[in-house]
Amino acid sequence: MKRVGALAALIAATLLVGCNQQKGVDATRIERGAAEEWLNYGRTYDEQRFSPLDKINRGNVAQLGLAWYAEFDTDRGQEATPLMVDGVLYTTTAWSKVYAFDARTGAQKWSYDPKVPGERGFSACCDVVNRGVAVWGGKVYVGTLDGRLVALDAATGEEKWSVVTVDQSKPYTITMAPRVVQGRVLIGNSGAEYGVRGYLTAYDAETGDKVWRFYTTPNPQGLPDNEVSDAIFAEKANATWSDGAWKHSGGGGTVWDALAYDPALNTVYVGVGNGAPWNHRVRSGGQGDNLFLSSILALDATTGAYKWHYQTTPGETWDYTATQHIMLADMNIGGSVRKVLLQAPKNGFFYVLDRTTGELLSADAYIPMAPESATPAGMPVSWSTGEVKDGRPVENPSARYAKSAALVSPAPFGAHNWQPMAFNPNEGLVFIPVTTAGALAQVYADDPAFKYRDGGWNTGINFNLGDLPSDEAQRVALKAMLRGRLVAWDPAARKPRWSVELPSFWNAGVLATAGGLVFQGAAEGALHAYDATDGKKLWSYETTNGIIAAPMTYALDGEQYVAVMVGYGGAGALSAAPLLPDRPRLPGRIMVFKLGATAQATPYDIPPKPVIDLAGVSSRGNVAAGRSAFNANCLVCHSPNASGGYLPDLRRSANLRDATAFRSIVIDGALAANGMVGFDRYLNAAQAEDIRAFLITEARRQQGLDAAAARAAPKK
Ligand code: HEC
Repeated sequence: MKRVGALAALIAATLLVGCNQQKGVDATRIERGAAEEWLNYGRTYDEQRFSPLDKINRGNVAQLGLAWYAEFDTDRGQEATPLMVDGVLYTTTAWSKVYAFDARTGAQKWSYDPKVPGERGFSACCDVVNRGVAVWGGKVYVGTLDGRLVALDAATGEEKWSVVTVDQSKPYTITMAPRVVQGRVLIGNSGAEYGVRGYLTAYDAETGDKVWRFYTTPNPQGLPDNEVSDAIFAEKANATWSDGAWKHSGGGGTVWDALAYDPALNTVYVGVGNGAPWNHRVRSGGQGDNLFLSSILALDATTGAYKWHYQTTPGETWDYTATQHIMLADMNIGGSVRKVLLQAPKNGFFYVLDRTTGELLSADAYIPMAPESATPAGMPVSWSTGEVKDGRPVENPSARYAKSAALVSPAPFGAHNWQPMAFNPNEGLVFIPVTTAGALAQVYADDPAFKYRDGGWNTGINFNLGDLPSDEAQRVALKAMLRGRLVAWDPAARKPRWSVELPSFWNAGVLATAGGLVFQGAAEGALHAYDATDGKKLWSYETTNGIIAAPMTYALDGEQYVAVMVGYGGAGALSAAPLLPDRPRLPGRIMVFKLGATAQATPYDIPPKPVIDLAGVSSRGNVAAGRSAFNANCLVCHSPNASGGYLPDLRRSANLRDATAFRSIVIDGALAANGMVGFDRYLNAAQAEDIRAFLITEARRQQGLDAAAARAAPKK
């Protein structure tokens, strides 16, 4: 009996071990970061997006071909990085839908639709995107656009639990990928353009119970939140805010993308977003640094308690978030190996911090910056001279647009946006997908008539001065000036080693591999591989759709694969269409490559541009008033001068012909289920008619240009 008992115990123990393995991902597995896998948004907790795989390398990358692909049911932006666990590829698409594929064959295992109401698209400044899932134990976690955190069974996609992480009466959204640290799921949120208060929450991965929350801006009622952030706000941060619109808007500071974790230091690093409203004068009377906007926060990973912070843009007033990719590395800096944190936020400085203490080791401009005295007349002024003194950026005074409007670089897109960077430790290089390589600027103008509108676009900026030049030749010249750049930045030498000019400023995330390769897609449609040493282009694949997401890589049975989410969209596509490639809206795909593969993707049907007949169409609306109302309400999704090419180009909308049809969409919300809400909260029927009048004018202008182009085109 005894022996049998011992045997039974042994069998039970073996089963337990087996169960543990099946239970999937845990801390050791993510920390060890097995070369074949990709278990966290940035692959490992340090978020380096560097894969040790080298089967695909400089010597053979030219033989890379399509292994399999799958097409999704949405043509909105694709920003996710897929994860690969135990032979299964997990990814998300626009509208926060989750998919699981057999990573070898592409066979779909399951999909999950959180059924986000289409109206929630209204609160998504920057497209209805999602950047991916987290995995832990036997579960997959997704943050949904309407603010839920959902845990799914990794094997079946069945919902295990779901928690609402935001106040549903406020314009919060979630687009970021959750991370799981010490058995807690970390999730932030977005919405600072509209008016929300940012925070990061940790939930128990098993149960969904809330463990801690850290707010990034003060409590508007001046009360304690009874959260772990209370202490540092009382001690330091509250005093950096003055009277202003933040008391209605919550101040912003959303944690909408970057997180990194150092297990040895037990620290989570958090990137904090811009102010709400953007305009510092409106938000906080032009007074104070407004902690923790535009900051990197170091928090105790177990309790969420404050450790240190570094604020990249004190008193931020340009939408300069510091939510951009944070990566951790151990690097030789000035002769000794330092544990550093690296970030290239929107404001154009590349920061190297000691991640133990928060000490600033270096801050260098990775886009051109100069004192305004050295800026030629008519050219954009950079917000900073490019210097940092005593840990604070030196500002160009006119850039604060306090007395008069100013043309400032970078624009709100930032010098680098959410598109992930990648690191190659062998080369000591960080590859930055630089969006605005200098020229893209924004006219920032104080909006003296600013009134806080519940749930609406609340930046405190007058966008009427930001229209495109009325002269077509000037528009073409402006577009030609705007470039992106892939920069190989050497953080130790504090300068770029090489860079590649990219045709459009809104470009894609990056992957680095031990094969000496740097992969990056392009808005124009191709996936490229560059040599990590010198930036030489070694391979390209044309998807005919646009790419903004970062590729990832994994290996199974000794075979290395490269996967990328294909699908154009995001903030640039929505609100700067005329300055970017003219792209049709095409369904998203996941495309997976391996050496020697020859699969063919079905060519896309490219929809023709609609042509509308405006003969006899007129409006009694006021064109100038319509233009203002458009800029304040519609520009963010339909681009300046209604020139949108990605969301419907309103100059080519048949609904312009008929005031009633137009009003039913714009006021009554006839297309709300697709993300085009009715504006009856903000506009009346007469204002909608003013907008229609403005759009008819723009449509006629465009028809004139189209006709001229057709006449000039050579006859076939
Ligand atoms: C949050 C993003 C967003 C904002 C802001 C927005 N729209 Fe839209 N709009 C959309 C989307 C998405 C569609 C496409 C809906 C669909 O696919 O059916 C659309 C479609 C439309 C259409 C129909 C176009 C067609 O194909 O005929 C009209 C008209 C329109 N919008 C007008 C406006 C006006 C006027 C404003 C400002 C008052 C505005 N929109 C603001 C997202 C937006």
